Amino acid sequence: MASIDTSASAPLHPVIHPIWVRLTHWINAFAMLVMIGSGWEIYNASPLFGFTFPGAITLGGWLAGALLWHFAAMWLLAVNGIIYVAFGLATGRFRSKLLPIRPGEVIADAKAALTFKLAHDDLSKYNAVQRLLYAGIIVVAIVIVLSGLSIWKPVQLQWLTALFGGYDAARYVHFFCMAAIVGFLVVHVLLALLVPKSLRAMLTGR
Ligand code: HEM
Repeated sequence: MASIDTSASAPLHPVIHPIWVRLTHWINAFAMLVMIGSGWEIYNASPLFGFTFPGAITLGGWLAGALLWHFAAMWLLAVNGIIYVAFGLATGRFRSKLLPIRPGEVIADAKAALTFKLAHDDLSKYNAVQRLLYAGIIVVAIVIVLSGLSIWKPVQLQWLTALFGGYDAARYVHFFCMAAIVGFLVVHVLLALLVPKSLRAMLTGR
């Protein structure tokens, strides 16, 4: 059986995800799941489309319960998001890890990924598809919070609601951002499970 070298001389891998990335990432994942589950229940009370979400996958039980969950988790989501974005900008992480995003590289890396030829040996560098998806989902997260604020306080924040084209349009924007986040989440979790060392790095940092 292979033994594990626990001596002081054991090579320590460099930190890929500093503690603030890991903390804000997992708090965000938890807050997003609460927001999505309760959001689906709120949607069910006044559907925008010809379908509702099955009660078994919604949170809150009924409209008032779901609103309480939604309004509780939104503070966690927003404050945590502000901390992540502030650190991402101040430390230069966004610039060094998420940029540049070049269309040619995105197409080449997407092709490589779909034919299982994409290398995963260096976890410290995101490939072009990851850079696009991560930068994109951060923008979507900002838009979902802003459109949510404009639906929550359409009188006090009428300039914001107007920016989205009015209350009804803001509801559609909010819904489509949710759909983008759920779509991202399905692919994101699947890929994390396919490359488990990336999941380990997001948990331990290395
Ligand atoms: C249970 C759910 C989730 C799991 C298992 C998960 C897993 C991971 C893993 C393993 C990484 C590092 C991946 C890599 O090396 O490419 C990562 C990074 C990231 N994830 Fe997630 N994630 C989850 C939820 C979310 C959600 C809900 C969002 C946003 C809506 C999100 C946004 C991101 C972003 C932006 C990064 C890059 C962070 C940075 O480097 O600053 N994740 N995630």
